[in-house]
Amino acid sequence: MTVYVLVGTQWGDEGKGKITDILAEGTDYVVRYQGGNNAGHTVCVGESTFKLHLIPSGILYDSCCSVIANGVVLDPAVILQEMETLRAQGISVNPSKLKISSIANVILPLHRQLDSKQEAKRHQEKIGTTGKGIGPAYMHKVARTGIRVQDLLKKETLKKKLLRQNWGEVYSESDYDIDQVVDEYHGYGMQLKPYVVDSSLFINEAINAGKSVIMEGAQGTLLDVDHGTYPYVTSSNPVAGAACVGAGVGPHKIEKVIGVTKAYLTRVGEGPFTTELHDEFGELLRKKGGEFGTTTGRPRRCGWLDLVVLKYAIRVNGITEICLTKLDVLDGLESIKVCTHYKTVDGELLDEFPLDLDVYSSCEPVYEALPGWSEDISQMTDFSELPASAKAYVEYIASYTGVQIKMVSVGTRRRQTIHLITR
Ligand code: IMP
Repeated sequence: MTVYVLVGTQWGDEGKGKITDILAEGTDYVVRYQGGNNAGHTVCVGESTFKLHLIPSGILYDSCCSVIANGVVLDPAVILQEMETLRAQGISVNPSKLKISSIANVILPLHRQLDSKQEAKRHQEKIGTTGKGIGPAYMHKVARTGIRVQDLLKKETLKKKLLRQNWGEVYSESDYDIDQVVDEYHGYGMQLKPYVVDSSLFINEAINAGKSVIMEGAQGTLLDVDHGTYPYVTSSNPVAGAACVGAGVGPHKIEKVIGVTKAYLTRVGEGPFTTELHDEFGELLRKKGGEFGTTTGRPRRCGWLDLVVLKYAIRVNGITEICLTKLDVLDGLESIKVCTHYKTVDGELLDEFPLDLDVYSSCEPVYEALPGWSEDISQMTDFSELPASAKAYVEYIASYTGVQIKMVSVGTRRRQTIHLITR
């Protein structure tokens, strides 16, 4: 039995899709436990590029079953579209390869409209949401007025539960036709029915049968609604502990927590970002790293790697090993900075992430400059091949954090991956 949780250690977009794809080879199940189609994974296989929002990248392997567990908020039209797109790209998507939790909450048109209305009302304090209705769907879940996947299967129940929600917040009575929504969403439910299961039972039976399972978090630690830079966060818990809740699996079943860390840092949407670069280096990282949102197409804000953030992520997730991604993007830089501390306005040096957003926002980054390398590392497949300063960069991160780096990704393709690095 191997049960791993895989999490992003930054503000999302760390390259989790590629790492899940690499690990999924030989893994029996890949499980999504939170978030929704606000996430975006780009996975490159051969000549094909797959853009996934809801379905785990395990779907690309015939021997792997992908599970969308109870903690996810599911937009049924989006998942049906994603299934079709995958089929059109030659990937088989059938009920033995994809399972959907019967108790995952559903995103409705109401939620998408509320998302943009709430954002418009925020004036000064915009979050920069993806506009996919994620926050409002979780709002209804916690308010206990949500619609769950199993409700889509029963027309009368669906109508009764829809009427319970406060549609007046978005629509006036004459603006919507509830029967039309019931028909549309019941229709989606019937299409999804063959895939719907008790996902906790399904996953636990697999674990008990000795199968291997990866539980994949979407977004990243700093976007966690509890542990992130609140309120500039998403509305779910990407941290590893949430895998237990979001998939209905006991904590003692989890063996390893893998943190995925980009060799530099990015953020989409609003909120403070200490190591953000507004100069030509930021532009270079954005261009070379292709740092544009998979879901919204927005340019990502870019900056140097922040080890204070990484140390914090290691603590709140209990990370046991790190996969470092996009190291090749740093090729050709004379010098590379890493943030090791923050300096407060009072001149105090911090090496722990401050939970007070006012403190964090006003901190200056304290950098260590490490030598860069001029070589193109994108075709290197063994750690020993890397230039000395690239090795030193990886080893610096391992020694600062005290956590092993098990994989370094040097390109988008599966083969552009170096395994088993530091001790
Ligand atoms: P929401 O999740 O759409 O409510 O957006 C809340 C915040 O999380 C915004 O700053 C988004 O840009 C950010 N966000 C949501 N999903 C992702 C992701 O997959 N990668 C990076 N940022 C994300």
